Amino acid sequence: MDRQSSIEHILDHFENPRHKGRMADADVQLGGGNPGCGDLITLYLKIGDEGKIDAVSFDGEGCTISQAGGSIIAEMVEGMTLAEVKELDSRTMMDEMGEDVVKSRVRCATLALGTLQGAVKLYEQNQQRATVGIDAVIGDEAIRFEN
Ligand code: FES
Repeated sequence: MDRQSSIEHILDHFENPRHKGRMADADVQLGGGNPGCGDLITLYLKIGDEGKIDAVSFDGEGCTISQAGGSIIAEMVEGMTLAEVKELDSRTMMDEMGEDVVKSRVRCATLALGTLQGAVKLYEQNQQRATVGIDAVIGDEAIRFEN
């Protein structure tokens, strides 16, 4: 993609975001922000069999690149496995958004991806806790049933 096409691609995703909106029945959601500017993004995921992303959406407010990044990454990861999502990195966003355009704005370009990967990690931690974890909460007390 040349510079002009990259800019048009980013603007298209910003103006017509894909997968934008809250997901009421998400398996996991996570908010992320860029402390430098206060821009925010929240990622919502539904995880299906074999650790595949069945549905993804995002919501947020911020600069054009950060919010276009949410739309671009959401479109890309639907149907991917969690393992595949963990392999993505800032290079992925540079390739998708045009290195020329975003190389001075890497934190904006990777805000959604970083948050998405954080959500995947959180989901895995929750799954682990559910497997090892507490069997019941009665009143304020957590009860573990031993075999
Ligand atoms: Fe805040 Fe881009 S200026 S994420």
